[in-house]
Amino acid sequence: MSGKLLQRRVDRSGPADYDHLMEVRDIHLSFKGVKAIDGVSFHVDDGELFAIIGPNGAGKTSLFNSINQVYHPQQGDILWKGESLMGLKPNHTAERGIARTFQNIALYPHMTVLENILTGRHVRMKSGWLAGSVWLGKAKREEMANREIVEGIIDFLEIEQWRKYPVGLLPYGVQKRVEMGRALAMDPEILMLDEPVAGMNLEETEDMARFILDVQDELGIAIILVEHDMGLVMDIADRVLVVDFGKQIAIGEPAEVQQNPNVIKAYLGEEVEIGQQ
Ligand SMILES: Nc1ncnc2c1ncn2[C@@H]1O[C@H](COP(=O)(O)OP(=O)(O)O)[C@@H](O)[C@H]1O
Ligand SMILES: [Mg+2]
Repeated sequence: MSGKLLQRRVDRSGPADYDHLMEVRDIHLSFKGVKAIDGVSFHVDDGELFAIIGPNGAGKTSLFNSINQVYHPQQGDILWKGESLMGLKPNHTAERGIARTFQNIALYPHMTVLENILTGRHVRMKSGWLAGSVWLGKAKREEMANREIVEGIIDFLEIEQWRKYPVGLLPYGVQKRVEMGRALAMDPEILMLDEPVAGMNLEETEDMARFILDVQDELGIAIILVEHDMGLVMDIADRVLVVDFGKQIAIGEPAEVQQNPNVIKAYLGEEVEIGQQ
């Protein structure tokens, strides 16, 4: 494995001066009287793989949109390294180290894999587009450094063979990996994945699960994984939050949550065998 981004992650050290990397405190979010989130609280620690599960419409994507301040909850607080994110713009949350992927693929289909992932670097660019014409030398060096980081990510996600292909022509599973690559290019400390295996076949799902675990283990990046399917989450998550109709119905380690009667009743349906798909 190569690339500055990857090395830096492995080397990261130093004491943290906050209780939790992220802390969501009693969030409430309504849209014209419809309660999308109704009192949800949780925290995520450095390097943790935290999952949020719940049926469609439970409020999972709204939680992501609240964390990166696309939505502004009417009540509650969201702390990042001890400081509130409330009222920031989404690009500011990205600059602080919070990256995400989307439930539906949001890439530039006519651009190549390399170019798409490179767009993730813009959050980290110092020279900017305008400065580029004035300080050509500096901008060029920065561009080269960015390309090196992107090549490292391409290696890491094993998508070298497609690097010059327009993304729109690639298989769905590969596109989802490119999207993850773009989020990694932002050099995040937490990666929020919104249903990363939705619509994937078994093989693609297993590949993606492996890359998610590699991001956690090898890059040391914390992850919030949103899923409505329990199988993957129970296999790979450190802790799980279960939501239903905007409410939090259980939180804990996978084995614990699987036994929770509220989860069995409200989420899975009583006759469903847990742990099977
Ligand atoms: N921008 C919005 N405007 C109005 N209602 C919304 C908006 N976003 C989400 N909702 C509503 O909030 C609820 C939760 O949606 P969502 O967060 O997308 O759930 P999930 O991701 O768990 O499927 C749903 O009832 C949905 O219709
Ligand atoms: Mg959703």
